Amino acid sequence: MGRAKRVVLAYSGGVDTSVCIPYLKNEWGVEEVITLAADLGQGEDIEAIKQKALKSGAVESLIADVKESFVRDYAFPAIKANALYENRYPLATALARPLIAKVLVEVAEKYGADAVAHGCTGKGNDQVRFDVAIAALNPNLKVLAPAREWGMSREETIAYGERFGIPSPVKKSSPYSIDRNLLGRSIEAGPLEDPWTEPPEEIYAMTKAIADTPNQPEYIEIGFESGIPVSLNGQNLPPVELIQQLNEKAGNHGIGRIDMIENRLVGIKSREIYESPAMSVLIPAHRDLESLCLTADVTHYKRGIEETYSQIIYNGLWYSPLKQALDAFIEKTQERVAGTVRVKLFKGNATIVGRKSENSLYSPTLATYGAEDAFDHKAAEGFIYIWGLPTRIWSQKTRA
Ligand code: ARG
Repeated sequence: MGRAKRVVLAYSGGVDTSVCIPYLKNEWGVEEVITLAADLGQGEDIEAIKQKALKSGAVESLIADVKESFVRDYAFPAIKANALYENRYPLATALARPLIAKVLVEVAEKYGADAVAHGCTGKGNDQVRFDVAIAALNPNLKVLAPAREWGMSREETIAYGERFGIPSPVKKSSPYSIDRNLLGRSIEAGPLEDPWTEPPEEIYAMTKAIADTPNQPEYIEIGFESGIPVSLNGQNLPPVELIQQLNEKAGNHGIGRIDMIENRLVGIKSREIYESPAMSVLIPAHRDLESLCLTADVTHYKRGIEETYSQIIYNGLWYSPLKQALDAFIEKTQERVAGTVRVKLFKGNATIVGRKSENSLYSPTLATYGAEDAFDHKAAEGFIYIWGLPTRIWSQKTRA
């Protein structure tokens, strides 16, 4: 008796998800495994991944090119929310999970599968993100997570795979666990598990070492409309191209490396290295433009929303009612966030050096210290008297 007859498996082409195929069939009695690989711009040979799934025993091997939706429907809302988990991680991996879950559910429904499966272990955030997203999108689908239960070491997993014709990794297997997509790379494990160890240069692939970056700064202009980036150096670009070009430019200047100790949802602290060049420019640029276009109270109130929003993404609650409610707030705030931000890329820094907007609330005649000054200085006196009144009364009462 099996746990399910027909299963759609989220497939990456790596050892773990490949071993999931024979494991599901032989240990858990699944009759048909359909694999689904999402193309999120990870830059791997998708056709080779497709073939590998078939060789590993899948009845059908599907590819979903979701790059466009990934940027438009997942990265852009995160930019509008200036979403950085624990103030630093731009959430590249976390944002991809709800999208993969969405296509998994769609394929499962289309093929009449009774379960979906993923290769996550029991220690990470990704299992939570998959399981909760799937439950939100189709609460009747079972979720199978073989790697959470099989208890095999890395070596045992490879040996198990070899019994079923899954080749062990060709290169001497890397000690790192790496997740990659258009928005960035997440690197963990191996020597990085020691928080005192400096990350070796070899782990980076999207960003240059500072020693190798150009000795001249590069200035770029990013255009925003309704809170989303639409152009680079005056040229309108579709979402995926914009991210790709910005990854190139920022990565070339060594921008977007993050080394942090992070609090996982499952209670573990982990050492994470990220490289996320485009997002590391876009979020500060967007936030800067907001400072020109939003009133003080909206800007300040939104900060708290952003913190919660980042946690929602990190903690796997993308399809939750709270996320939808906060989206409504954020959308409203973005209506007038439009304009251009000028950024200087140099030696690992993206420095914002200029911003302009048709919707700018900045008033030169109010701000100036020059002769054109239109601010009513005398009005300040009465304002300060009333503003300071509670403090004055408190002081009189307590000074004794
Ligand atoms: N800690 C990051 C996160 O939870 C990255 C996870 C990387 N995932 C992986 N399978 N290597 O979003």
